[in-house]
Amino acid sequence: MRKLSYKKSRLNGAINIPGDKSISHRAVMFGSMARGKTTVENFLPGEDCLSTISCFEKLGVQIERSETAVTVYGKGFEGLKESSDILNVGNSGTTARLMMGILSGLPFHSVLIGDESIAKRPMKRVTGPLRDMGARIQGNQDGNFTPISIQGGDLSGINYASPVASAQVKSAILLAGLQAKGSTTVQEPFKSRDHTERMLRAFGVDIEIDGCNVKLEGGQSLTADLHIVVPGDISSAAFFLVAGAIVPDSKVTLKRVGLNPTRTGILEVLKEMGASLTYTNVVEDGPEPYADITVVASSLKAVEVSGEIIPRLIDEIPIIALMATQAEGTTVIKDAQELKVKETNRIDTVVNELKKLGAKITATDDGMIIEGKTKLTGGQLDSYGDHRIGMMGAIASLIAEDETILVNDEAINVSYPNFFEHLESLLG
Ligand code: S3P
Repeated sequence: MRKLSYKKSRLNGAINIPGDKSISHRAVMFGSMARGKTTVENFLPGEDCLSTISCFEKLGVQIERSETAVTVYGKGFEGLKESSDILNVGNSGTTARLMMGILSGLPFHSVLIGDESIAKRPMKRVTGPLRDMGARIQGNQDGNFTPISIQGGDLSGINYASPVASAQVKSAILLAGLQAKGSTTVQEPFKSRDHTERMLRAFGVDIEIDGCNVKLEGGQSLTADLHIVVPGDISSAAFFLVAGAIVPDSKVTLKRVGLNPTRTGILEVLKEMGASLTYTNVVEDGPEPYADITVVASSLKAVEVSGEIIPRLIDEIPIIALMATQAEGTTVIKDAQELKVKETNRIDTVVNELKKLGAKITATDDGMIIEGKTKLTGGQLDSYGDHRIGMMGAIASLIAEDETILVNDEAINVSYPNFFEHLESLLG
């Protein structure tokens, strides 16, 4: 539990945004599957990515880490060995689902478990297509929930039209497809984040991308001796982008923020709502573009957020909802049913917590409706063990009239271990 009694002052200064969570996971996973040495710079030392490291160590991979520098000594798929212990993914859906794809192709038995939140998150979306490829997977409720047990090997390629735009589903199938006979294609209704495709290419994998279709041939190996520079996580930057826009007189610079177009929906929404953003030090020549972003306090107006942009900002909806409480008019967020199967049901947790502060917000079946502009009071908030709900609460406290308390604040360590240090440095 943490008292969020920040003096009501502007935010000012610059911070280095910690490494992208999605890219950090993939750097360790793909480095472990590759033959050779992969070095990773600006790795995110959050609990989720540490779970990924621990799983691959149990599979026999040598991994060295010193703060944000990681070295992975991969020995190819053949270097991954049956673990005598259960693989614990902690709170991480990305670790669980991508590991399921990788383990499905490996000729041994593995068991995956996670925390209480993981135990409630649907795995059938991955178990289903992986079984169709030939994987032998069992788990609670016919393989929908952890613990999951996998006897891998002997996969055939698949042509899979996913009903959801999910990078975790797409990646799991592609990673199994790499180890399968024949070709594998994944088609999505809208394009989800494409870090897997970009990084597989950097590891020398041939992969065809045509809009929302991705195709690869099985039997390809990953070649390492790669140095991966992980850009700052735009999903973490989002909390300070919104803080800078809603706390009067603020000016905040966020350094080296990843600008992969499959992730930049938040920037489009900020701009449409009227926030002033400037970009400097733009780097576009690597596999993942990034830049420094400066935001200044702005007067905001309501927007509708729906359709193809949803997968490009799905993790930012909690903080967008808070921003909408400070915008003139009615903001509608729809087509976002996926929020219900995140670390918490984020339609419920966002609406509950913002209501406690006096926001005019209503839950709908696929999103929420927010009336602005509303003064927020203080109160006792809960992260419910969900890092992004905790950070939304902490940013809300900056504009709340009375004291705010955050219960289960430690959940923030999942993706942003130095969040409060950064917040306090901007408050001066
Ligand atoms: C992620 C994909 C998204 C996102 C999650 C990270 C990834 O999940 O919400 O935080 O790294 O692939 P879905 O694939 O379930 O949409």
